[in-house]
Amino acid sequence: MAHPKRYTVTAALPYANGPIHLGHVAGAYLPADIYVRYLRQKKATVVFITGSDEHGVPVVIRAQQEGSTPQKVVDKYHTLIKESLQGLDISFDIFARTSSPTHYETAANFFKTLHEKGIFEVYETEQYYDPVCNQFLSDRYIKGRCPSCNHPDAYGDQCEACGRTLGPKELIDPVSAISGAKPIFRSTKHWYLPLNKYENWLKKWILEEHKDFKTNVYGQCKGWLEQGLQPRAVTRDLAWGIPVPLSEATGKVLYVWFDAPIGYISATKEWAKTQQIDWAPFWQDPDTRLVHFLGKDNIVFHCIIFPIMLKAHGNFILPQQVPANEFLNLEGKKISTSRNHAVWLHDYLADFPGKADVLRYVLCTIAPENKDSDFTWQDFQDKNNRELVANLGNLVHRTFSLVHRYFGGCVPPSIAPSAADQALLARLEDAFTEVGNAIEAFKFKEALQLAMGYAALGNKYLTDQRPWHLVKSNLEEAGTVLHITLQLIATVALLIKPFLPTTSEKMAHMLGLQETSWGSTNLVQAGDPLAPPIVLFEKIEDDVIAAQRKKLQNRSTETVVA
Ligand code: 2FM
Ligand code: ZN
Repeated sequence: MAHPKRYTVTAALPYANGPIHLGHVAGAYLPADIYVRYLRQKKATVVFITGSDEHGVPVVIRAQQEGSTPQKVVDKYHTLIKESLQGLDISFDIFARTSSPTHYETAANFFKTLHEKGIFEVYETEQYYDPVCNQFLSDRYIKGRCPSCNHPDAYGDQCEACGRTLGPKELIDPVSAISGAKPIFRSTKHWYLPLNKYENWLKKWILEEHKDFKTNVYGQCKGWLEQGLQPRAVTRDLAWGIPVPLSEATGKVLYVWFDAPIGYISATKEWAKTQQIDWAPFWQDPDTRLVHFLGKDNIVFHCIIFPIMLKAHGNFILPQQVPANEFLNLEGKKISTSRNHAVWLHDYLADFPGKADVLRYVLCTIAPENKDSDFTWQDFQDKNNRELVANLGNLVHRTFSLVHRYFGGCVPPSIAPSAADQALLARLEDAFTEVGNAIEAFKFKEALQLAMGYAALGNKYLTDQRPWHLVKSNLEEAGTVLHITLQLIATVALLIKPFLPTTSEKMAHMLGLQETSWGSTNLVQAGDPLAPPIVLFEKIEDDVIAAQRKKLQNRSTETVVA
């Protein structure tokens, strides 16, 4: 496919109602970052967007749990999430907030445009109302007995004991989760986006024109479309959010899932302002490729609802790809924020300083690209010790040690390379295409495996050629072997750059590489001075892993998330 003029890449805006865990990272932020780093390395024009999703009922509930205010909650988690993602070297161009004035204006104008175009349908329905607090109750705010399993504390949208999805009217003996009062029905008016009217258009756009969507994404969309779409309310009776910009809608706010995806557009505007460039082509020029990264629970919003909003508005391009991932489990169990069965990113960064790349590596190798996958601390240790230390680290260390010991720390010349040497160099020429094709197909796991395969190839080459013996009998031949190995190491440094940016940078520094763009060849020249070897990865000992397992077990019994 021809390359577009520019890329707009988004990663789902994290809810600012709690810290983020490894599941979020593996689901959206890491794959998005790998993709963007690769595009930048190819010198493409790209903007990488995310930010805090600060509205919605979950924020209000968290404020109640913490005895705080919604504003304090979002301020706290915005900073925590932003810093932890930065700590993992997720290279956003902007980490915006949906509380910013630009976003309020953009979201309200978006709503107004749809309203003026007569897109919305207005319905009056009976909703649960708390007569003590004088407010309508969203589904999460109603508790009662589960009609399936009799659990006494099921929520109006789901029973967490048996997992069943519920409607608030299905609960037996419902009470308000705020005051404990018995809720009453009261009539309220809301603005609905008639998704059903776009069903045929969507069927064509996704089912016919986007057969290139990942199987898991395509399958979920097909399921939704087969079930049939219903009008969906895009306003809510809530005090926390962006006010609906209509005089007859006082006290109502935009539904969080209406305003959040518009956050991508507002964030692009804010970023463009800092660059003194025009934001519009990033959302309006058909020669822009819009790619949304997210977890599977967000597919419906990005493949159905947001595209309908964009289409209804009329001035925007549609996503070209939505490479959503499935879920990451933890030690064989579902990650649960309420039960605190999670590894929080900020905890990992504090417990493993300087090891962002190790986590990036492990999460990429187990990314839930096609089906749910599992993170275990044992696997984390094995991958660090057996792959990063024993393969990549070892290759670099033994090559550099030999060059410093026998060749004065400068790249030796390649003199009369053998057929095996030539064959190895020829394979390096294909490496960028091979790994690049996998990245462009959103197969990051495969791409990393291919890149690491070149490090393994280098180790095998060294073991076969035995330069440590050759130095005694034929220094010239030993130099040639090391020259070729350094060429391979330099190629690996470039291939792993999107995945392991810090490691790649250390390797580039050791090799004195000037050029690190994707596809560069002849990276080292005879006589180039090399920096002394630095240890790229350290072995992780059993006690460190045991401590993490223990921490998880102890914490999982707690009910409150720090
Ligand atoms: O699931 C979530 O974490 C949501 N906050 C994602 C929002 S993505 C977007 F549309 F903004
Ligand atoms: Zn139940």
